[in-house]
Amino acid sequence: MITEIKHPLIQHKLTLMRKKETTTKDFRELLNEISMLMVYEMTRNFEVKKNEIETPVAKCKANVLVEENIVIVPILRAGLGMSGGVLKMFPNASVGHIGLYRDPKTLKPVEYYCKMPSDIDKRTLIVVDPMLATGGSSSAALTLLKNKGAAKIIFMCLVAAPTGIEVVERDHPDVPIFTASIDEKLNDHAYIVPGLGDAGDRIFGTF
Ligand code: PRP
Ligand code: URA
Repeated sequence: MITEIKHPLIQHKLTLMRKKETTTKDFRELLNEISMLMVYEMTRNFEVKKNEIETPVAKCKANVLVEENIVIVPILRAGLGMSGGVLKMFPNASVGHIGLYRDPKTLKPVEYYCKMPSDIDKRTLIVVDPMLATGGSSSAALTLLKNKGAAKIIFMCLVAAPTGIEVVERDHPDVPIFTASIDEKLNDHAYIVPGLGDAGDRIFGTF
């Protein structure tokens, strides 16, 4: 299932990111901010339980998150632009990395790195990648994580194309997707339209 987060602040910041004149510094900062805001929406239905605590005034039962066993998984390299913001919201989370790039000729994902905590079968994974285009990279990343034992995965991207959504929902119907925008389509080079260009290049200034 996909959730498009239509919060005005997120939409406004995303528009700034889309502009071609936005600098690398601003692009990176905006992505970091949007990622934090998206976590706020994404965790809306996370369970809480009562823990007994003591304030300076009195003992009481107060809400704490049930799920604290989070692993943030950026898909390299553009996913790194989102992981910092998510980590701010879950400062105790582990961070696993998956290295994938989309071969420019075949458009197929090529894996080059994977380092995960050994107990991912017991953890909740938040996989992040700003762009869901053909869906090849995200779907391959999710398959790889499941093959390593991951059972509970949430996928968070900034911009999603209908094609990519279809592929991930087909291959991974158990993985909820959160995005800041469902864009119109892909162009002939499988870039998202209107999109924001090459996210990795814009985050790292590698033009
Ligand atoms: C981009 C993006 C996704 C992928 C999306 O990464 O960050 O991982 O493309 O495209 P897809 O849905 O068609 O697979 P890219 O391969 O450019 O690598 P990078 O992050 O290293 O720049
Ligand atoms: N990867 C990107 O960085 N941008 C796109 O539009 C598609 C894939």
